[in-house]
Amino acid sequence: MTQDFTADISAYPIDLSIRPEVTAFFDKETNTISYIVKDPASPACAVIDSVMDIDYPAGRISHASADRIIAFVREHGLGIEWLIETHAHADHLSAAPYIQETIGGRLGIGAKITLVQEEFGKIFNEGTRFQRDGSQFDRLFKDGDSYAIGTMTAFAMDTPGHTPACMTHVIGDAAFVGDTLFMPDGGTARADFPGGCARQLYRSIRKVLALPDAMRLFMCHDYGPGGREIRWETTVAEEKAANIHVRDGVSEDEFVAMRTARDKTLEMPKLIIPSIQINIRGGQLPEPDESGKRFLKVPVNEL
Ligand SMILES: [Fe+2]
Repeated sequence: MTQDFTADISAYPIDLSIRPEVTAFFDKETNTISYIVKDPASPACAVIDSVMDIDYPAGRISHASADRIIAFVREHGLGIEWLIETHAHADHLSAAPYIQETIGGRLGIGAKITLVQEEFGKIFNEGTRFQRDGSQFDRLFKDGDSYAIGTMTAFAMDTPGHTPACMTHVIGDAAFVGDTLFMPDGGTARADFPGGCARQLYRSIRKVLALPDAMRLFMCHDYGPGGREIRWETTVAEEKAANIHVRDGVSEDEFVAMRTARDKTLEMPKLIIPSIQINIRGGQLPEPDESGKRFLKVPVNEL
């Protein structure tokens, strides 16, 4: 590792005077939080990390979670400009294409999704019809790229470690960290998936925690540690003071040792096999085979 972890965020266009209206949608099946982020000055919004429902034992897909988001958008007369994925999730399926077909929006993810497509394309032996160039998405964000949501300017920040393509999306005074951080009492997400790296995760977290203290941070997951109610919003100041894994004062080596030891004890997420196959396709199901039916694979002894 030669990357300098002294977080330098001076190049990012941070603007705390923009205060988006954030509405959270909690999916209790996967403990995922999806967001509608609305421009206070126009009907424009972005949807971040939507969820498509799956009854995996039955192989059945449905859209109740996404329909709640669509209903909110319609009820409030909003226009979706962006459907953002903070990363290729391993524990839930993205509903972005379903929402896009129903009500619009452009689908965006980190440009390094191509690395994830390459890696899992091999694991699932996806063959030549599966494009590994990110073309399933409308926009591939590079570090520092800006985009508009109505009158707001948002930007994407590379925060790899949990996966190589993880990005934090900063929209005014609100940052959507994906699985880079959990709530202070939840710590951090695992870094042991293919392409994950605990050392990189630590450096990415230092970058997020270099944002202004007052920055609101929105989590992608919460598991209610110790039985507390589900929460998803905190601040940079709170994470720096109290995160059980990476509060100020925890060194990189301490974090890497803790994260690596802990990851060895974790089981695979229940939905990793369907999630990955669908999310590397931008939320689309695999193409039908010669019978006209669609299948998900289970690679044996590969994960
Ligand atoms: Fe994740």
